[in-house]
Amino acid sequence: MITLGLNYNRKHDSSACIVRDGELLFAVAEERISRIKHDSGFPRLAIQACLDFARIRADELDEVCFGWPTPGPGFRHDLKCLATGGLPLTYTDVLTTTTYFLSMWHQQGGAKVFRQWFGDVKARMRFVGHHLAHAISAYAYSGFDEAAVVVMDGRGAWEATSIWHGKGGKLEHVFTMPFPDSLGLFYSQFTGYLGFLPNSDEWKVMGLAPYGQPKIKLDAFIDTEASPYRVQAKRIFGTGRGPYSDMRSALGPPRVPESEIDDRHKDIAYAVQEACETAMMSVTRMAVEKTRCRNLCLAGGVALNSKGNGKIAASGLVDKIFVQPAASDDGVALGAGLACFLENGGRLPNKAMRHAYLGPAFDDSAIETTLRTYKLPYTRLDDPAATAAEFLSQGKILGWFQGRMEFGPRALGSRSILADPRDPEMNAKVNNAVKFREWWRPFAPSLKKEAATEYLESAGDSPFMILTAQVRPEKRGVIPAVTHVDGSARPQTVEKEINPLYWRLLDEFERRTGVPVILNTSFNLRGEAIVHTPTDAVRTFFSSGMDALVIGSFLVEK
Ligand SMILES: [Fe+2]
Repeated sequence: MITLGLNYNRKHDSSACIVRDGELLFAVAEERISRIKHDSGFPRLAIQACLDFARIRADELDEVCFGWPTPGPGFRHDLKCLATGGLPLTYTDVLTTTTYFLSMWHQQGGAKVFRQWFGDVKARMRFVGHHLAHAISAYAYSGFDEAAVVVMDGRGAWEATSIWHGKGGKLEHVFTMPFPDSLGLFYSQFTGYLGFLPNSDEWKVMGLAPYGQPKIKLDAFIDTEASPYRVQAKRIFGTGRGPYSDMRSALGPPRVPESEIDDRHKDIAYAVQEACETAMMSVTRMAVEKTRCRNLCLAGGVALNSKGNGKIAASGLVDKIFVQPAASDDGVALGAGLACFLENGGRLPNKAMRHAYLGPAFDDSAIETTLRTYKLPYTRLDDPAATAAEFLSQGKILGWFQGRMEFGPRALGSRSILADPRDPEMNAKVNNAVKFREWWRPFAPSLKKEAATEYLESAGDSPFMILTAQVRPEKRGVIPAVTHVDGSARPQTVEKEINPLYWRLLDEFERRTGVPVILNTSFNLRGEAIVHTPTDAVRTFFSSGMDALVIGSFLVEK
């Protein structure tokens, strides 16, 4: 049984994965190949990469499953919202919504486009509920036999937050909070109000939050006292007097993009993050109560809020937590790829996901061809890990390109930029040389799993950089470049068995410095997708202030 799982909703983060007999073989987001960040187009390049990896033709697929339902239910829901005044939509909004649904109908939810690109295949086309696909992507990769499963995002076709009960491979629906009562919408609208890009730059608000003070109340926009929460969608959208009109009257004018950040912006970021965390806790509490289960699985874009996740993990509310690392819509492909197992009362496979190295790899011969093509001087390394560690200990900023590309938004040691976390200036150095990003956004550490308890107060097992933990007070001065202003960090704990090469790099760095921690940020320039091919890596390397590139077994220096 070979299934293709897809995310294609023409909104953002199109992706594809391929599953053989319940085993996930390969997954990649379209943006990495097309180089269009958050690419929302039909994921034909991602699908082709899946087929190539599995060495099969499209007509050998048994099923193609979209993590988005057919257009009907979503359209009916939006009409209902409009009719009951639940959404303050303008004429233009109605037109945009109608055009969207009509075009999805025309494309048969994507099935027609699939056939256009890949022929008239025998595969069955399946469409699953968006939140169900998210829920499967969390539960079926958690390794928990029983779990409370929570999905929180901007919106599915009609859902905003949903709770599920996973047990013995089955997934029972427990609760749904319909759109527009949406935590994702709340956060993304405030992201826009603060002058950042909604559905993309929520990280920036989360990073800015600890610089603010608890001075601002957002009760007019979200009720976090309700169980689980209520969003005042009309006020969030702005009641008819232009975007952000209600925010403007309550909180002052929206921030102009790229303009100076002042204390008011910081305080608003603080309030948004605080409200989101409180609401996330309240949904979790409800999920634990309704399922009577203290293992928690999270997915949906809101579950990328590593601060909120860290708070839940440290709250004592749950015993174990698994956050699907591709929590946003790219990860929906993983759920869709397994949806067929629930048919006729069936059970999902369930294997703990221990890494996200699910994408394409390039071997030394492919890499060497690229380096030769560009006539770059390079040297072949006996031990890339040791060389990289040596460079890092000398304060150099390093491009690190190895093995299979990560699936999900984080670089986890395959497509990474690495630096020395001990240098208090390193954050600024990496920002100036490479990332050109906002001063307040923290960098994250990779550390040997064995050292987690020595450096961190919680999150001893955090392979995906999706849970925030507090750095132990005595260690904050040791790794200042990866410790945020509030003493937190978003760690990746690296296991020897899972990624031996990356683990050994940390080990070699520790031999030289006594510190088994390095700064790890994604291998890309500001506003670009993470590098995919050796060509992408070389281009990014020479367009930035990185000092050296360790790519496969080769070293390129400037
Ligand atoms: Fe979603």
